[in-house]
Amino acid sequence: MAIRNIIENGDEILRKKSREVEEINERILELLDDMVETLHKSNGVGLSAVQVGVLKRVVVIDIYDGKGPIKLINPKITKTKGEVELEEGCLSFPNQYAKVKRAEEVTVEALNEKGKKIKITAKELLAQTLQHELDHLEGVLFVDRMIPGTMEYVDPDNNQPVKE
Ligand code: CO
Repeated sequence: MAIRNIIENGDEILRKKSREVEEINERILELLDDMVETLHKSNGVGLSAVQVGVLKRVVVIDIYDGKGPIKLINPKITKTKGEVELEEGCLSFPNQYAKVKRAEEVTVEALNEKGKKIKITAKELLAQTLQHELDHLEGVLFVDRMIPGTMEYVDPDNNQPVKE
């Protein structure tokens, strides 16, 4: 396993659309493991492969609920319900937070690392993180969904909120 470098805002790769994974091979498994390690090292709750420079539809999430990291391959949102306004950040935008509109509840279908189909229905932080990470796969960033005038810059020395 290895820590990978997280690409920050300004790099045009973050605007590119990621490609479907066709075969879950050793490289994909290694990517998933590296992404989990990188996520934990950054105290984040979600990371998409594009953020480590790989344009593949691969996402890892850990909301630290004791269930361990979730590894998703080719995830798709199949259902949404309701709408909420939430504070949000991104590991590619260090120390920046803004309010965004998100669905209150989402259902996501994906493959796990064994190639098995999985379905997750989520609310709250998991629902928010799923939507945020799946946006990355389309080249969409949280600032695109920002409610105007809500961007805040947090001093990392005084405050360390959870980042996505
Ligand atoms: Co992000």
